[in-house]
Parts: sequence; structure tokens; C-alpha cells
Amino acid sequence: MKIIETVEEMRHFIKQAKKEGKSIALVPTMGSLHEGHLTLMRQAKQACDIVVVSIFVNPTQFGPNEDFAKYPRDLTGDSQAAASAGVEVIFHPQAKEMYPAGYASFIEIEGITEKLCGLSRPGHFRGVATVVNKLLNIVQPDKAFFGQKDAQQVLVLQRMVADFNMNVSLEVVPIVREADGLAMSSRNAFLSAEERQAGLILSRSLKVAEELVAQGEYHIEKIRSEVIAKIQTEKLAECDYVEIFNYPALQEISVLQDKALLALAVRIGKTRLIDNTILEVK
Ligand code: PAJ
Repeated sequence: MKIIETVEEMRHFIKQAKKEGKSIALVPTMGSLHEGHLTLMRQAKQACDIVVVSIFVNPTQFGPNEDFAKYPRDLTGDSQAAASAGVEVIFHPQAKEMYPAGYASFIEIEGITEKLCGLSRPGHFRGVATVVNKLLNIVQPDKAFFGQKDAQQVLVLQRMVADFNMNVSLEVVPIVREADGLAMSSRNAFLSAEERQAGLILSRSLKVAEELVAQGEYHIEKIRSEVIAKIQTEKLAECDYVEIFNYPALQEISVLQDKALLALAVRIGKTRLIDNTILEVK
């Protein structure tokens, strides 16, 4: 497995692979790889001849008071994990390779970025869309793989690819969870043992909503208030948002019709965790 640090070398590798008729998958990540990331890589490997994983903690998607500086970084561990998933190349640029002096171009997606994480993390999706656009331009993959763990991110990127007529297919992989239900996340590494236990409140509160819907409760405010009440039973948890929007349009609704996204952002101590589920009328 190769580790490539420059755009020029990455382009050279891709040009060669395309000349040989190979199909290419890209799995964008910020590293500190876990089973969720590895599932994306394995699916990418099944779909394409060559898998490129980018590992780049993208400064433009972090707000000034967020965890950019302390975001976990482990290139040695990540290299071993990626190699075991059958990855051919890790693209690991430095920040100045991606954003050299004079850099001035950013992508804004309107509408769906103006809620959920777009409200609590201003500028976040501008940074995500910009870096993913750059990565897609550099790697020119046939397919790019993303996780439903970041449901709004997927919708934003699908919008970008459609709006800019980008020639790539976005593949979405379901949320990968620990055995006890906690959604895998690089940020779980920040949790103490007690906080790790408290973090279960996210998936458990999603279950409350799923059970209500299964019993025929379709009133959004009722479902939402039960989810909030469940989260409040956990002393270490503090809600950032608990929202239900129709899916995939993300518009406000008062009664569940067809599909809705229930999305949570909850602080456990200093760590902000997100999770979500699709509620569906059966
Ligand atoms: P990161 O948080 O490292 O996640 C990389 C990819 O792995 C994303 O598509 C994310 O949705 C997916 N992923 C993370 N945890 C997952 C889980 N438990 N189950 C399924 N998929 C999971 O998301 C980012 O990085 C960045 O915003 C990025 C797209 C790389 C742009 O910088």
C-alpha cells in the first residue's frame, strides 16, 4: 500500500491506473479509522479495482472553538487498518498542499445546510463540500463512499454532485454500531468509561422513536418530546438538537408521512456525538 502526500503524485498514480483500465473508488476520511470507516473501504473494494482512502483532518470544516487541534490522529495505526481492508493508496496531504497561500475558493450549498449541524456548526458544510469537491477532482473516482452516520453530509454532497453535474456515483453505507448500539465515531476515543456508557443514550432514544412509530404514533412533536425526555434521563447528556424532518427533502412536518430523518446531536461531557435513524410509515 502506498502513502501519497502530494496532489501531483496522486494524479500521476490515477492516470496510470486509468490507463490500465482500472475502476477507482474514493473513501474520504479524517483518519483515526474504526470499523465504520473499514466497512466503507471493504464495500469500495468490492465495487472497484482500486481503493483510495484520503486521510485529511480538514481545517475548513471546523469552527474556531471546535476540536480541530485535538482531533485524534494516528497514521501508523490507520495504515495498518487500511492495508488490511485491501486499500491500495492512502492520500494524506498536509494542510498547505490542500490550501496553499492565496487559496480563495469555497462551495456553498443552500437550503439543506441551514438546519441541524449547519446551525450548530456554522461554516461546517462549506468546508466539507469544498474539501470533498477538491478530493473528487484530484482522485477522479468512479465511485465515492460515505456513511449514513453523517446523514446530512450525504444529502449535502448528493446536492453538490447533482448541481455541478459531477461525474461520480456516491455510495451510501448504513451506520456501523458497537455491539451495544453506540454509533462508531473517531470522537468516541474522547469518552471516559462513564461517558462511554452515557453515550448509549443516543441510540436508545432513537429506539424509543422507532418503537413509537411502530405502534402507529405519527405526530412529530409527540415523538420528538419523547426522545428529548429519554435523553434527559441521562445526567451526563446535554441535547444540542433533536430534530425530525421529512426525508430526503429535510422540510418541516407535523405528521410523519413516508420517511423522516430523526437526527440527534448530544453533548456527553465535552464530546459532541451525533446519531440518526430514518423513521418510516409501514
Ligand atoms: P469522518 O468522520 O472520518 O468519516 C469518514 C466517512 O466515514 C464519512 O462518510 C462518515 O459518514 C463515515 N462513517 C463514520 N462513522 C461511521 C459509522 N459508524 N458508520 C458508517 N459510516 C461511518 O465525515 C468525514 O470524516 C469528513 O466530513 C469528510 C467527508 C472526510 C470530509 O472531510
